[in-house]
Amino acid sequence: MDYHIKDINKAGEGRLRVEWASQGMTVLDAIRERFERDRPLQGMRISACLHITTETANLARALKGGGAEVALCASNPLSTQDDVAAYLVAEEEIPVFAIKGEDSQTYYEHIRRALECGPTVTMDDGADLVSSLHFIALGKWGELNPAVRSWAEGLSRVAREEMVRRIVGGTEETTTGVIRLRSMESSEVLQFPIIAVNDADSKHFFDNRYGTGQSTMDGIIRATNRLIAGSIFVVCGYGWCGKGLAMRARGMGAQVVVTEVDPLKALEAVMDGYQVMPISEATRVGDIFCTVSGDVKVIARDHFRQMKDGAIVANSGHFNVELDLEGLEEISVSKKKVREHVEEHVLEGGRRIYVLGEGRLINLASAEGHPSSVMDMSFSNQALVAEYLASHGHTLEKRVYRVPVEIDRAVAKMKLEAMGVRIDQLTEEQQSYLASWEKGT
Ligand code: ADE
Repeated sequence: MDYHIKDINKAGEGRLRVEWASQGMTVLDAIRERFERDRPLQGMRISACLHITTETANLARALKGGGAEVALCASNPLSTQDDVAAYLVAEEEIPVFAIKGEDSQTYYEHIRRALECGPTVTMDDGADLVSSLHFIALGKWGELNPAVRSWAEGLSRVAREEMVRRIVGGTEETTTGVIRLRSMESSEVLQFPIIAVNDADSKHFFDNRYGTGQSTMDGIIRATNRLIAGSIFVVCGYGWCGKGLAMRARGMGAQVVVTEVDPLKALEAVMDGYQVMPISEATRVGDIFCTVSGDVKVIARDHFRQMKDGAIVANSGHFNVELDLEGLEEISVSKKKVREHVEEHVLEGGRRIYVLGEGRLINLASAEGHPSSVMDMSFSNQALVAEYLASHGHTLEKRVYRVPVEIDRAVAKMKLEAMGVRIDQLTEEQQSYLASWEKGT
């Protein structure tokens, strides 16, 4: 079996951690047991570009249990848990191409190797796998990373087109990836259907809000060991992730400042009780900054100049573009690592700015990502959507679809059951009341 990981000897540690995570993934576990009986994914080849964590390992087990051949590569150079990669290779016989801290060249080589496995279904977290595949199929050489390009240029046009033709469909895990894929759809280049798992209510209401909220605080605290209480904590972006992060920072005693560009979200933040101001003002008051906006250069070069001595800056959005680190380099007179995941930049005049986790997803770079019980819902959606693609994929067009509502609701229902929470059901009278327009008072 082909694979590329850091150290196969870490498999034992990985197994224990994957088993621990599985205790929080009761819904996915039940799906895996059904999959092992019914084998709905038989014949499917899934290449998945995801964060290689204990939770992803449990998803991979479920998919394999359902009969799929699964290959994994990382969706971020810093998010791989090397012990988990070792466990998957050594004990689950799942090919993994991922090493924590890999450089950009290796990151793309790993994507190439996942593509070489010949997927019929793709899973993405950020759309790097699907976009690479499209650059190959469409011969967009200029866009391709050299690690993929040198391989793809050796393939015939027929072989390259065949790579996308055999794909029944793909799934996308995160907001940033869905935005990229919708742009591919509107530019009419999308070559196969995608199901936007991120957009399921049972995914983003929970994973993006409570998962990002907790794991981002966890990442910042593990990296710095600073007290949050009494600090001024600036959250850039008030989408689902920003809402969760602001809530958790406030819960730990920070004064929270929110920056936004969308008037509705800004108003929501005001009415949720946060101070809202432009980033150019927030930079003068903040102690800790975290971007969760999905956009580029949200904290730009001149913003760093305005920060207080000792300001801490992190990102928990998908890509490492939200902090203008090149701009920061330009205005820095020196730079050094002062502790694991913390780099000190000294500016002219001596002010110090601390950048966490190289500006990459801090919740995965210095912590372990979202806890398993919230990933349970995200990855149950992924598993059920893979099953849906097996039965319905051929009926879909080259578009970005929402998760079927039956799957979305089934995940929420199963999670409640697993948590032992019971809810009411509408009576017949209530159902008919809701269905009728004649009944007023
Ligand atoms: N994204 C955020 N947290 C994650 C986790 N624990 N596993 C996989 N993907 C994630």
